[in-house]
Amino acid sequence: MLKYGIIDIENIADERGELSFIQNSNLPFEIKRVFWIKPKKDKERGNHANYKCKQCIICINGKYKMSLDDGKDKKEIILSKNQGLILGPSLWRTMSDFSDDCILLVLASEEYDEKDYIRNYKKFKEAYR
Ligand code: TYD
Repeated sequence: MLKYGIIDIENIADERGELSFIQNSNLPFEIKRVFWIKPKKDKERGNHANYKCKQCIICINGKYKMSLDDGKDKKEIILSKNQGLILGPSLWRTMSDFSDDCILLVLASEEYDEKDYIRNYKKFKEAYR
């Protein structure tokens, strides 16, 4: 079974606009890094796995498709505004089909370390089949 979780991010809307938030107690890890992505509609991002890093990928605006692969099972999920996708390590992830207005905010359990990335799918399959 492929392991991931989806959380609905609280959204407080009033006549001034919208405010959304997430905090450590909503997550299965402590946040050590935050990065954000403004993707191009017709490109793919990701195409990698991590050995250790856990992430929560929050769709701040728009929508996109996440394709997950744990070496055995595969799953495609459409995620939209105010949904957070919690991913453990050892999952090959590919993001695509971005809407024009899609923005992703990623919370990560580790600081950036290129050595934690597996960017070669063959190597990933050998490690996790
Ligand atoms: P990349 O992993 O290709 O992005 P995506 O997962 O969206 O496909 O990252 C793009 C570049 O940014 C790559 O050279 C690594 C660098 N990078 C950092 O320096 N720090 C970071 O925290 C992240 C996520 C990426």
